[in-house]
Amino acid sequence: MRTALVPTMGALHRGHLRLVEMGLRTADRVVVTIFVNPQQFAPGEDLDAYPRTEKADVEKLRAAGAHLVYAPALLEMYPEGFCSTVSLAGPAKADLEDKYRPQFFEGVATVVAKLFIAAGCDYAMFGEKDFQQLKVVTRMARDLSIPTGVIGVPTVRADDGLALSSRNEYLSDEERATAPLLHRTLQEVAADVRVGKDITRACSGARDRLKQAGFRPDYLEVRVADSLAPVESRSETELRVLAACWLGKTRLIDNVAV
Ligand code: PAJ
Repeated sequence: MRTALVPTMGALHRGHLRLVEMGLRTADRVVVTIFVNPQQFAPGEDLDAYPRTEKADVEKLRAAGAHLVYAPALLEMYPEGFCSTVSLAGPAKADLEDKYRPQFFEGVATVVAKLFIAAGCDYAMFGEKDFQQLKVVTRMARDLSIPTGVIGVPTVRADDGLALSSRNEYLSDEERATAPLLHRTLQEVAADVRVGKDITRACSGARDRLKQAGFRPDYLEVRVADSLAPVESRSETELRVLAACWLGKTRLIDNVAV
């Protein structure tokens, strides 16, 4: 019997449910975890405001055909005296998300390692929406000899291109109307790079267009897809355009393949 794990922080939307669907195609049983992990939130981030909708989440998971939901209490995950974390390098130190959220991936990798070990699943489903997270978790499982195969699932989007995210709920109506420009801009950069335009210029032009539309970009970069290292040669395998931008009080992230 093959099992697949879908780790989440709840506030489930169609993106999460696609991971469940892909889990059901990959394995015989799907286990979903719901845990808003304080270790991956920095002081001042939205830990307290993060949407918590557990009852509705369980209903959605039942309808999607998940077999088991595990929603541990805080002390179950972090008993008194807890003091061990996973230390990371490589894709976790790519100067992308990690530059703006320095403790984030250590918090993610630690909780994910705990969940992988506790669940003992054959596979774990992760969204490409959080592309750096997908790479960090894949590397971590391999390096720590955790026998769970990490599977990436393409980003689920609204009709206008905005990547579905629990944090989209924070957007005002006006911001929500502007938000799809992020995905459109990433697609433009990917198209420019594909036809051989200068990468640095394509990225700085895109950042300017986003600023003009009211975004405050943290980063918008083209990287080698697998390692997230800077692009040194154009013939270099697959590339990815990745960005994080503030729109009002909401931080949006997205990425597309070149
Ligand atoms: P959360 O943001 O709830 O996301 C859970 C999983 O759903 C992640 O793998 C994420 O990439 C995926 N996901 C979110 N939006 C998606 C979309 N629009 N399309 C496809 N997949 C999407 O990511 C986390 O939680 C946490 O960091 C976690 C891994 C659970 C560790 O705490």
